Amino acid sequence: MNIATHPFDALMDITARPPVVFVRGEGSFLWDDSGKRYLDFMQGWAVNCLGHSPPAIADALAAQAKLLLTPSPAFYNAPSLKLAKALTDHSCFDQVFFTNSGAEANEGAIKLARRYGALHRNGAYEIITFDGAFHGRTLATMSASGKKAFEPLFEPKVPGFPKAQLNDLSSVKRLISDKTIAVMLEPIQGEAGVWPATDQFLRDLRELTKVNGLLLIFDEIQTGIGRSGKLFHYEHAGIEPDIMTLGKGIGGGVPLGALLATQAASCFEHGDQGGTFNGNPLMCAAGLAVMQQVADPDFLKSVAENGLYLESELQRMSARHGLGEVRGRGLLLALDTKHPIAGAIVAQAFEDGVLLNAPRPDALRFMPALNVRREEIAEMIDALDSILTRTGAARRVA
Ligand SMILES: Cc1ncc(COP(=O)(O)O)c(C=O)c1O
Repeated sequence: MNIATHPFDALMDITARPPVVFVRGEGSFLWDDSGKRYLDFMQGWAVNCLGHSPPAIADALAAQAKLLLTPSPAFYNAPSLKLAKALTDHSCFDQVFFTNSGAEANEGAIKLARRYGALHRNGAYEIITFDGAFHGRTLATMSASGKKAFEPLFEPKVPGFPKAQLNDLSSVKRLISDKTIAVMLEPIQGEAGVWPATDQFLRDLRELTKVNGLLLIFDEIQTGIGRSGKLFHYEHAGIEPDIMTLGKGIGGGVPLGALLATQAASCFEHGDQGGTFNGNPLMCAAGLAVMQQVADPDFLKSVAENGLYLESELQRMSARHGLGEVRGRGLLLALDTKHPIAGAIVAQAFEDGVLLNAPRPDALRFMPALNVRREEIAEMIDALDSILTRTGAARRVA
């Protein structure tokens, strides 16, 4: 496969991609157009929560496509109402605004917090975010992110996002001023390499924000919709944020995100927020199919159990090969490779027909389908074990 058979040059070159074209997916597996099969432990970066092309989503999309694609966001449609009700019934939030991506949901959260500041806190607008955070690729969400590589890009940044350190409450306290309106964080920093906030830190943050009259915003774009073993990660800490954003898993593979807020924080007025495709019935029908499966307590129990199984298998393998800790929760885990070998392992795994991800040079990230089978976990572990044995042997020879 090469440029002669595929017009790769017709797409903007925004990232390094292998010259392979994927044509079909089913559950934990993908196939390229040469017929090669890949075991997928990336799942579109934690997107395909029910695996590739699950019948429930395919059927929901087909049925909705025949019924109504979009009446315009100026009117109500049934799937968006049903999905909003399902999300509010299963969370501590009262209202939902649907978006087309995670970044757009976070943009909405930033606007909502600033709106709240204008209404209730003399125009306070600063949102404390965290070093290492990743909130998206729009200008405001890049500014809110604490990703080093973003720092020199697209200056000037959107102002108003002072950075604290995860799991360090005093670093948050130091940044609070009369300009502050909110604190925003991912309960597990996924793109940074799967660094979890402790439950105690999340509880302390809730207390601190309450005492100071600030909003607490959870970016659950990666951790939400069952990924951590609970429907929403905030449940682990036993707290209730004021605002939450969802993306990735909520669409199960289609572009859908959501901004959720409690009644008190839900303060948009007409004209503040909107968009042509927001809450369109087609995407919301997929979201509803996802919620119908993932919100089932038995499904969530199996995610937690499979997460523990994957974690223990990774720990055993790490011990065998002298690697580092396993971090994360549920089916969002990372293995510390101790040395900058993660990229080379991902490249070799790709050759061997296994899709893995290296968010950092020394970390491998695992985010399989939430309904991944034990034998698929075992197959991935065997493949990784074999790569580590081969590369370990190669290192010894060299
Ligand atoms: C925690 C978090 N927030 C926001 C985003 C951005 O979402 P999207 O790529 O859908 O805009 C991501 C994507 O990786 C994410 O992991």
